[in-house]
This record gives sequence, structure tokens and C-alpha cells, in this order.
Amino acid sequence: MIKGQITGVGVGPGDPDLITLKAMKAIQKADIIAYPAPDNGVSFARQIIEKNIPLHSGQSEYKITIPMRIERFPAQEIYDQAANDLAAQMEEGKNIVVLCEGDPFFYGSFMYLHERLYKKFRSTIIPGVSSVMALASVTQSPLCERNELLTIIPGPLDEDLMTAQLQEEKTAYVIMKVGRHIEKIKRCLIATNRLDKAIYVERASLPNQKILPLSAVDEGNAPYFSIIQVRI
Ligand SMILES: C[S@@+](CC[C@H](N)C(=O)[O-])C[C@H]1O[C@@H](n2cnc3c(N)ncnc32)[C@H](O)[C@@H]1O
Repeated sequence: MIKGQITGVGVGPGDPDLITLKAMKAIQKADIIAYPAPDNGVSFARQIIEKNIPLHSGQSEYKITIPMRIERFPAQEIYDQAANDLAAQMEEGKNIVVLCEGDPFFYGSFMYLHERLYKKFRSTIIPGVSSVMALASVTQSPLCERNELLTIIPGPLDEDLMTAQLQEEKTAYVIMKVGRHIEKIKRCLIATNRLDKAIYVERASLPNQKILPLSAVDEGNAPYFSIIQVRI
């Protein structure tokens, strides 16, 4: 029997027109459209494809519900269960796409399915436009140039480590997963004299996107889809 395959498909940062043709074709051809969704809301990746890629009657959906409680993430047993369910479908010859916001292999949860499945099934990745690229496009500020370095910092990083990272010269930064870490991030940028170079963006590429100097953001908590660019 020919087994099915699984493809992690990057669907971009939010603007439905930022989906690649390759992603669109893969989604249209798939038997099963899988996507992560928070237990308290709708799937952002699923929403992104809504406008341009209506699913047809021959396709089914598989929701991977991810609890948003911090202490449970990454929820290994959830990926075990999803990998088992999807493996059973592939044994039946079904082709599966897993929708991933941005790029699948850039802080994307598809990697947890890939590592469980790639030895037994064909698992491929279709890259997507990452939030980092969307960030620079909406701030109209290049990420880095010439011999500059670019460092990506995850917001949950320990405060001392983050401050140490931000001390590198000739280095530009992007800080992801800002959320409840915004005040700590600000402290690190103040300690390294970089707060005035930091631009804060919420929901880049979406109609309700917000762009502000980070110094003007006074919320104690930023939304999940927020990101910071720090120029040299
Ligand atoms: C788990 S990571 C996934 C990154 C994604 N795979 C990518 O390539 O952009 C989630 C983080 O990406 C950032 N992010 C994703 N989409 C965004 C958007 N449209 N605007 C701002 N930040 C975004 C936020 O920092 C968010 O906390």
C-alpha cells in the first residue's frame, strides 16, 4: 500500500495574500487539513487561509488543541496523540497538510510532529513568510545590512541572558514572543541603552496591526502576536 505523506505548510504572518503558491497548491490537494488551535480560541493559521483557499467537500479538518496554560507547553502528550492520529490516516494513504503561521521551522510547532513522523512517513516542509520578514516590511526598516549581525531573541529568555545578548555591538535584534515579557524586555533594553532603537509591532500585516516605539507602549502585557525590532 502507498502511504500518505505529511507536509508542514507555512501560511505566512497573517495577510492572506502572503501565502506562497506552493503552499496554496499543497493545501488544495490535501485530504486532511490539520492545524494547531488554542483551547480558548480559533486557529490563526486556519483563519489565514479562509479568504483565498476555501476547503472542498472532499477535505476534512483536524484540530490540534494546544492548552494555553504556560506550564503545560510544549504539551508532549498532545503531539504524541496528534502524531498517532495523523499516522493512522497516512497508513490509509491520506495526504495531510499542517498549517503553520509564518514558517513551520521557525519556532513553529510543526517540528514536534515532524520529529515524531519523519522516519516512518514522507514529511516535507513548505517555507512561509515569517513574522520577522513581515516585521521589517511594516516598519520599513531593514533587518540588517552589510556586515551587521542579526540575533533573534525569544521573549521568555532569562533576564540576565537577554541583557547579555543585547550587549553585542554591530548587532540588530528581533525579539519574539513578547506577550507577558514586555516589561522585562524593556528593562533589558534600558540596561543596554537600546530602548530608543526598539520598534514594537502587533499583528504585523493584518488590518489591525499596530506599530509604536516600544518606549510608548505602556501595557503590562502585550498580545501573543507581537514582536520587537531593535536597529543598531
Ligand atoms: C511560536 S512563534 C511562531 C513564529 C512563526 N513560525 C514565524 O515564522 O513567524 C509565535 C511568535 O511569532 C510572532 N508573530 C507571529 N506572527 C506575528 C504577526 N503577524 N505579528 C507580530 N508577531 C507575530 C510573535 O512574536 C509570536 O509570539
